[in-house]
Amino acid sequence: MTTKLFLIVFIFLSYTTPSLSKRYCHPQDKKVLLQIKKEFNNPTLLSSWKPNSDCCQDRWHGIHCNHKTSHVDSLDLSYDHNLTSQFPPSIGNLPYLVNLSLFHLPKLTGQIPQSISKLTNLKVLSIGVTNMSGPIPNFLSQLKSLVTLNLSFNNFCGTLPPFLHLLPNLKEIFLGGNKFTGPIPCSYGYLNDEYPNFPNLELSYNQLSGKLPMSLGRVNFSHLSLKDNKFEGDASMLFGANKMTEAIDISWNSFTFDFGKVELPKTLSILDVSHNHVYGNLPAGIENVSWLNVSYNRLCGEIPKGGHDHDVYTYIHNKCLCGSPLPSCK
Ligand SMILES: *[C@@H]1O[C@H](CO)[C@@H](O)[C@H](O)[C@H]1NC(C)=O
Ligand SMILES: *[C@@H]1O[C@H](CO)[C@@H](O)[C@H](O)[C@H]1NC(C)=O
Ligand SMILES: *[C@@H]1O[C@H](CO)[C@@H](O)[C@H](O)[C@H]1NC(C)=O
Ligand SMILES: *[C@@H]1O[C@H](CO)[C@@H](O)[C@H](O)[C@H]1NC(C)=O
Ligand SMILES: *[C@@H]1O[C@H](CO)[C@@H](O)[C@H](O)[C@H]1NC(C)=O
Ligand SMILES: *[C@@H]1O[C@H](CO)[C@@H](O)[C@H](O)[C@H]1NC(C)=O
Ligand SMILES: *[C@@H]1O[C@H](CO)[C@@H](O)[C@H](O)[C@H]1NC(C)=O
Repeated sequence: MTTKLFLIVFIFLSYTTPSLSKRYCHPQDKKVLLQIKKEFNNPTLLSSWKPNSDCCQDRWHGIHCNHKTSHVDSLDLSYDHNLTSQFPPSIGNLPYLVNLSLFHLPKLTGQIPQSISKLTNLKVLSIGVTNMSGPIPNFLSQLKSLVTLNLSFNNFCGTLPPFLHLLPNLKEIFLGGNKFTGPIPCSYGYLNDEYPNFPNLELSYNQLSGKLPMSLGRVNFSHLSLKDNKFEGDASMLFGANKMTEAIDISWNSFTFDFGKVELPKTLSILDVSHNHVYGNLPAGIENVSWLNVSYNRLCGEIPKGGHDHDVYTYIHNKCLCGSPLPSCK
């Protein structure tokens, strides 16, 4: 009799204790999500966010929950041209969020609110192709778990955030397509580049200017793009035989340096230095770069034979480069 009772109690507990039914929406998170929906101005995109349903089990659009904690760990919304609102400050009240991605929401406006600094578990912060504006605030330095910071193609402005080297896990930094001005901070020479986390830094299509800090030469970047800015002076510190860099794009700037003195990383497979004032000869090993563009510079000397084939548009508009595919050297 007691065994039977025990069994019934056990079965009852199995059905009701959280350990076996963990995917129910955490009540606090649900409350916050409904507030976020309100701050987004109740868009059609969020019509599945219904107060009488469960945010984890009933497939609320863009929501993912952690199966163990039943907390919301991902908020991922994209492609809605109707959604018209400011960035909802209540997003900062989802403390277990690991992933926050808002892409292609062209009528999303406002600045990054202070409340975001509470999201200390966040690994991915992606805001892309929105109309959000203002500077990258210093309180983002509190997001110590960040691996990816992608703020590409918005209206953010001001100088580049100087604290990124204080984020120990940061690996992907995408700040292209905004209105950032001023130079690259010296602190970017101290970004974490411990093997195998070689950082990927993308700053293209801004209005950045000035000389590159020498410290940048310390970093083993995997990919680096400075395309279409107003940088000047030397960029040779970005190269180096011992680096693990796979792609360098410094095109459409005003860099001036002797390209012949550069040692190319053996790992380099993409190199675009076009539209600068780069002079000297082509560096040794350039025939091993599979995607290459050195056009519109002041380069001289013979194009090396062997390696990858490139057409004339890789080399045109230089001072005195010669040899196939350009006319032969005299
Ligand atoms: C956007 O609004 C238009 C007009 O109100 C509507 O036809 C369309 O379905 C809406 N799209 C989305 C994704 O809500
Ligand atoms: C985080 O968001 C990205 C989109 O930026 C998505 O590809 C990825 O699967 C998401 N990760 C998780 C754990 O939800
Ligand atoms: C960063 O955002 C841009 C624009 O939304 C997107 O095209 C790109 O794939 C994103 N990159 C990463 C690594 O998330
Ligand atoms: C972006 O927002 C600004 C105000 O911050 C506004 O003037 C502008 O028209 C908006 N642009 C688009 C494409 O919606
Ligand atoms: C880049 O990383 C490789 C492999 O970890 C290492 O051998 C090399 O010294 C590093 N180079 C620089 C400039 O840090
Ligand atoms: C170019 O690649 C070939 C084949 O991998 C290699 O033997 C050669 O040393 C490389 N040249 C330079 C200058 O790195
Ligand atoms: C190199 O860049 C120039 C100038 O932007 C462009 O005209 C040319 O097509 C590019 N070459 C290749 C191979 O893409």
